[in-house]
Amino acid sequence: MCVISLRTKRIVVTGATDGIGKSYAEELARRGFAMMLISRSQDKLDDVARSLEEQFKIETRTIAVDFGKSDIYSKIEVGLAGLEIGVLVNNVGVSYSYPEYYLNIPDLDNFITYMINVNITSVCQMTRLVLPRMAERSKGIILNISSASGMYPLPLLTVYSSSKAFVDFFSRGLQEEYRRQGIIIQSVLPFFVATKMTRIKKPTLDKPTPERYVAAELATVGLQSQTNGYFPHAVMGWVTTKIVPISIVIFLGASMNRLQRSGYLHRRKLREQRNGNDLKKIE
Ligand SMILES: NC(=O)c1ccc[n+]([C@@H]2O[C@H](COP(=O)([O-])OP(=O)(O)OC[C@H]3O[C@@H](n4cnc5c(N)ncnc54)[C@H](OP(=O)(O)O)[C@@H]3O)[C@@H](O)[C@H]2O)c1
Repeated sequence: MCVISLRTKRIVVTGATDGIGKSYAEELARRGFAMMLISRSQDKLDDVARSLEEQFKIETRTIAVDFGKSDIYSKIEVGLAGLEIGVLVNNVGVSYSYPEYYLNIPDLDNFITYMINVNITSVCQMTRLVLPRMAERSKGIILNISSASGMYPLPLLTVYSSSKAFVDFFSRGLQEEYRRQGIIIQSVLPFFVATKMTRIKKPTLDKPTPERYVAAELATVGLQSQTNGYFPHAVMGWVTTKIVPISIVIFLGASMNRLQRSGYLHRRKLREQRNGNDLKKIE
């Protein structure tokens, strides 16, 4: 059962041109909703919008903005003016290019600002723009895509993990504030999904395609205010929060990320050596 009905006017999806966001747009367009797609590249937005219009005969609009910047919200406000928004999917998010110790993160100063703007500010600001009309109408749904890495600290991805914990707390606090006004605010905490972000090419049962993940997640809207969204992920969430002590979860997360970091740095060194050899051959 899905509580999102056709009486809902328009869906807004941030980060709608790839991965999980694109799948939300497709899955909701399939159900006949008009779309507002917000992402950073106009070309990719045009491609996704055209494909949704052709496949599902729905109306689409787009706004191209970089959520890494903080001065974009007046442009979004203008783009949303006069639209009746039924559902907001706060999906846009970025992670590290590889797991790294805090002080070793390349260009740390800008990295911090960028990640906080994309992962945290976007959720608060988009909600500021959309929630007032929802509250007036006593109707509306906001899906905030957090992450399982926000359920406990994930060392070497510490800024990402902390930003996603913010999204989870923000969603749960706000749900309590606006529940009586009929607004649904859901915190969505996926484990791995096979997208560009995770660079997982081969989906498996525990690392599903975004399409499979989103179809399962949408069935939980209105039933769970905090969800891992997909049965195998719910089992993983239960094991890691209820069975295994938190200190062990943090230790295992750190070990996994240290391994990934070493692998990444090793491959990068090999690539650099190969490029150096190629350059010597040309000279
Ligand atoms: N994949 C997972 O395993 C996983 C697990 C837990 C949580 N999540 C969360 O799920 C959400 C979606 O992740 P994903 O894996 O689908 O990511 P993805 O495949 O990398 O797609 C991200 C989308 O956001 C857009 N985007 C990225 N940076 C942007 C910026 N600065 N301004 C505007 N748009 C921007 C991208 O646009 P372009 O197409 O132009 O790049 C793309 O449409 C994120 O919040 C992520 O943290 C993902």
